[in-house]
Amino acid sequence: MNSQDTLIETQPESYARTNDLKAFDARKTGVKGLVDEGTKKIPSIFVRPHEDRLLDLSKCPKDISVPIIDLAHVDHESSRTIEIAKDLVSASKKWGFFQVVNHGIPFEVLDMMIEGARMFHEQDDECKKQFYSRDKSKVVTFNSNYDFYKSNAANWRDSLSVNTTFTGEVDPQELPPICKDVILDYINHVIKLGDLILMLLSMGLGLKPNCLKELESSKAWNLVCHYYPECPEPDLTLGTSKHADASFITILLQDQIGGLQVLHENQWVNVEPVKGALIVNIGDALQIVSNDKLKSVYHRVIAKTVGPRISIAFFFKGLFSSRKLYGPIEELITEENPSIYREFTLEEFLTHFVSRPLDQPGIDHFKIQL
Ligand code: OGA
Ligand code: NI
Repeated sequence: MNSQDTLIETQPESYARTNDLKAFDARKTGVKGLVDEGTKKIPSIFVRPHEDRLLDLSKCPKDISVPIIDLAHVDHESSRTIEIAKDLVSASKKWGFFQVVNHGIPFEVLDMMIEGARMFHEQDDECKKQFYSRDKSKVVTFNSNYDFYKSNAANWRDSLSVNTTFTGEVDPQELPPICKDVILDYINHVIKLGDLILMLLSMGLGLKPNCLKELESSKAWNLVCHYYPECPEPDLTLGTSKHADASFITILLQDQIGGLQVLHENQWVNVEPVKGALIVNIGDALQIVSNDKLKSVYHRVIAKTVGPRISIAFFFKGLFSSRKLYGPIEELITEENPSIYREFTLEEFLTHFVSRPLDQPGIDHFKIQL
C-alpha cells in the first residue's frame, strides 16, 4: 500500500473519531453522563483495538499478591524500623507496588475522602461542568481521560484533579465546595505518610533517612479523584490503560470494588482491596534516581459491570519550575553499578512524559546510551 492509499483509508475514520471525541467533550458530563442516559452499547471511541484485547486472555493468578506491610510502631531508632525499611525496598524491587496498613491515617479520613469524591462526581451536572477543562496549567480540573486526544481508545473513567505541579500551591477557595474540606484534610495526612515512606525507602537503600525527601518530591503534587462508572460492555474497554506513573511515589486509596491490576512477571495480578490499607507504588522519577534499584511498573484498571468504583491517586511529583537537576543518587553509583541515566530538570522530565504515547516506557529517553 502506498502512502496515498494509507491516507485515504485512515483519514475518514480518524476524522470521525476526532469529531466524536469533541462531541463527547462538549457535553462536559463525562462517562457518567453516558451511563446516566442509560447507554447500553459503549461508543466506539472507548473500544480497544481487537489485537490489544486478544493479549488479555490469560487469567489473573489467584495465589500471588502485592506485599502488605505493617507500619505500626515505626520510629527512627528501632531495629523494627530498619526491618520494615528493608521490606519496603524489597517489595519495591520485586513488585514496584505494596500496600501499607497501620499507616497512621484514620479510617474516617479515608472514608470521607472516598465519599467526598463520590459527592463531587454525583452532584448536579451544572455544578460539575464549571470545572470541566483540559487546561493543564489550571490547579483544579474535572474531565474524562487526561490523554483523550492522544490515546487510541478512551477509558471508562472521569477524574477530578488538583495539581500543584506548576504553581506549588492550591488556593482552597478554588476547590469544589462540595469536597473542599475533605480534600484539605486528606492532603495533610497523605503528605506526612509520603514523607515517612520516603524516609523508610531512603533507609532501606542504605542512604541518609532524609535523602529522598531532600529531592523535594513532596513540594508539589497531584491529587486525582477517579470515578469509574459501571460499564455495560467491560470486555471492550478499560478503566485506565496500562501505564507507569511519572511520579516519585504514588499513594493510592481504593474503595472495595477492585479492578486495579499490576504487571508482575508478565502477568496481570489483581491488587485486592484491603479495608483501611493504602497502596504505594514507585514512579518513573524514583526508578531513575534510585538508578533502577526500585522499579516503576505498569499497572491498569479493568472496567466492570459493577460500579461506580472510586479511587484517589496522590502523586508526589516535585515542582515543574524547580531548577534542581535530577539523576541517579551519587551514593547509588559504583563501578559495578554505573549511572544508567543522565541528569535532567523536572520540566524536561514531565514534558517528555505527557508528549509520548502513555503506554510506552517514559524513562528510556533519559538513559545514557552505552
Ligand atoms: C493512576 C492509577 C489506579 C486506580 O491514577 O495513575 O494508576 O486504581 N490509578 O485508579
Ligand atoms: Ni497509575
